[in-house]
Amino acid sequence: MHLLSTPLRIRSLELKNRVILPPMAYIKGDDQSRVTPELCAYYHKMAEAGFGLIVTEHCFVSPEGQASARQLSVSRDSDIEGMSRLADSIHSCGVPVIAQLNHAGGAAKREVIGRTPLAPGAVHVPGLGDPDLFPDVMTESDIARVTDDFVSAALRVQKAGFDGVEIHAAHGYLLCQFFSPITNRRKDAWAGYTLEGRTRFPLSVIRAVRSAVGDSFPISVRYGCCDYLPGGSTVDDAAAAAPSFAEAGADLFDVSGGMCRYQRPEHPEPGYFSDQAEAVKKAASVPVALAGGIKTPEQAEQFLEEEKADLIGIGRLSLSPGVDFSGWF
Ligand SMILES: Cc1cc2nc3c(=O)[nH]c(=O)nc-3n(C[C@H](O)[C@H](O)[C@H](O)COP(=O)(O)O)c2cc1C
Repeated sequence: MHLLSTPLRIRSLELKNRVILPPMAYIKGDDQSRVTPELCAYYHKMAEAGFGLIVTEHCFVSPEGQASARQLSVSRDSDIEGMSRLADSIHSCGVPVIAQLNHAGGAAKREVIGRTPLAPGAVHVPGLGDPDLFPDVMTESDIARVTDDFVSAALRVQKAGFDGVEIHAAHGYLLCQFFSPITNRRKDAWAGYTLEGRTRFPLSVIRAVRSAVGDSFPISVRYGCCDYLPGGSTVDDAAAAAPSFAEAGADLFDVSGGMCRYQRPEHPEPGYFSDQAEAVKKAASVPVALAGGIKTPEQAEQFLEEEKADLIGIGRLSLSPGVDFSGWF
């Protein structure tokens, strides 16, 4: 496969091919959300396959942003040692790795975080969180604190030896909740009825992380472009906002769904998010990664040939027992 095996540079990072392991929650941290030997062994095995880049599963940046029990934490300085072992287990195969940072916001559950979740508004996140509990509306100081939590987490990841970070702004989690008019009903400067208001929080997080990690450290954004739901965010919104995300410091858009999460309703075809990948790629001059339903190297090659994406993620296929990676790398 000609294009699949072409290298790609993302800021300081040289990827040897165009196939990535997208973030896949394996959720095998210990009961304190720390890295375990089982988790390192899983990522090492994935790295042996020969991916150009591995993006870790989502790791929570602060305790109130934890999405599930045993999800990995990057919320404490004491997490650096375990994260460093995780990075080493992947680097030992010559594969770069970036860590995905997340805050679940209103998608968190009280039984996991021990408090009422925080969100842009007192609105349920479709299909996530506690159905019988409305989240607390974030104040200006909550917003500033969570921004700082992303920064501290990014610095920990950098210290642990990762090659970059990915900021999770998809799948109905906190940054996506601000971006989506379904969950952002605010009327203030973070308002849900203007694109400027909806993008303000994700942009502040990207800017703050960029200023902390320096110029050469790659920042990817898991971009929940479109909700594919009535009244939700659209592909046009995603394309319109993409240049400002790039200007704030994003080096890669790892496109996926918004409130619809990582699947697209009634669209099982290979590369079911390729419309948004193409739109974002045209709008901003940074590389775009596409994942979703891609099962063969031929399909992947075609998306690269048609310039709909620069990188291809293979998620569930990589988890299939006895998967054959020949032809991919
Ligand atoms: C079990 C599982 C866990 C996932 N965990 C994450 C995650 O932690 N962060 C994220 O952004 N996406 C996550 N995803 C979405 C994948 O990164 C990917 O976008 C999705 O599986 C579609 O690609 P595929 O059809 O190749 O599997 C997960 C998907 C699955 C199936």
